Amino acid sequence: MIKQSKWVRAHTNIAFIKYWGKENEELILPKNNSLSLTLDAFYTDTQVSFDEDLNKDILFIDGEEQDEKALNKAQVILDLVREEADIHDFARIDSKNHVPTAAGLASSASGLAALAGAASLAAGLDLSKEELSRLARRGSGSASRSIYGGFAEWEKGTSDSNSVAIPIDKADWDIGMLFIIVDDGKKDVSSTEGMRRVVETSPYYEGWISSATEDLAAIKSAIKKQDIVEVGEIAERSALKMHALNLSANPPFNYWSPESIVAMRKVEEFRNQGYSVYLTMDAGPNVKLIGKASQMDELYQALLETFRKEQLVIAKPGPGIQILED
Ligand code: PMV
Repeated sequence: MIKQSKWVRAHTNIAFIKYWGKENEELILPKNNSLSLTLDAFYTDTQVSFDEDLNKDILFIDGEEQDEKALNKAQVILDLVREEADIHDFARIDSKNHVPTAAGLASSASGLAALAGAASLAAGLDLSKEELSRLARRGSGSASRSIYGGFAEWEKGTSDSNSVAIPIDKADWDIGMLFIIVDDGKKDVSSTEGMRRVVETSPYYEGWISSATEDLAAIKSAIKKQDIVEVGEIAERSALKMHALNLSANPPFNYWSPESIVAMRKVEEFRNQGYSVYLTMDAGPNVKLIGKASQMDELYQALLETFRKEQLVIAKPGPGIQILED
């Protein structure tokens, strides 16, 4: 017998207050609360089938079978669902990533959120948003926030049961992002490894925790006021502090390529020209602009002087997880 879900769609999110450090690696409990914006431009569609004829779990992304390593995080979610629903069959996962070609954007947030949705659906579990967030978190921390549209906060909690994301604001105001995709071909330090290194060795880690708490309170009140300047300034500071942790780790590391710096300087230039635009960066060289959605087309045009159009993607706030009806 095959228990197959419908296709489930989850969008990626970008943190404005970063999650950078785990309190508990196995359960994926973070050191600090984080806050993100879910975006319309990048998403993953996933279908799960529990099938008694399978002799192992298999994962296909865009039609290509993936290796064991790619399956690891997914299997954490599958195992939790199997246990909860008392299912003993292996599963086939089919995923389609909707990201611009060569975007170099890891899609773990949208991928693992969509998987949490599809696996629980195939198993016949009727999970609340909060339960889905908790399940997605076990695959990848940032995935906990992709259950919701707009702004979401992942509350660090104290245990598996209360470390979940909650919705904060629909972001139905003039806010948007523009991605500058920079591929440096260099092998990155994984987020798991990066987090471990800063927690264990950065002399600034305590400062990070206390300032993340302040930044979170400040950005929530700025979001309430729909104040793009404050939101952008706080988000940019949070990102740069995260990257400062990496520079201060032992051994130090960073995710920047020369082109990242070019993009960062552009943001400064735009601000000098009067635009309210700020940047954020994650565990990779891409630079993401935060600003008024209504000004993104102008900035896009200006960036074409420096970057190729394939490197530029405009994104708006996106929706939460959804089941696709055929
Ligand atoms: O959820 P992970 O393991 O992919 O870690 C994500 C870490 C950052 O993207 C750098 C920050 C964040 O909060 O999303």
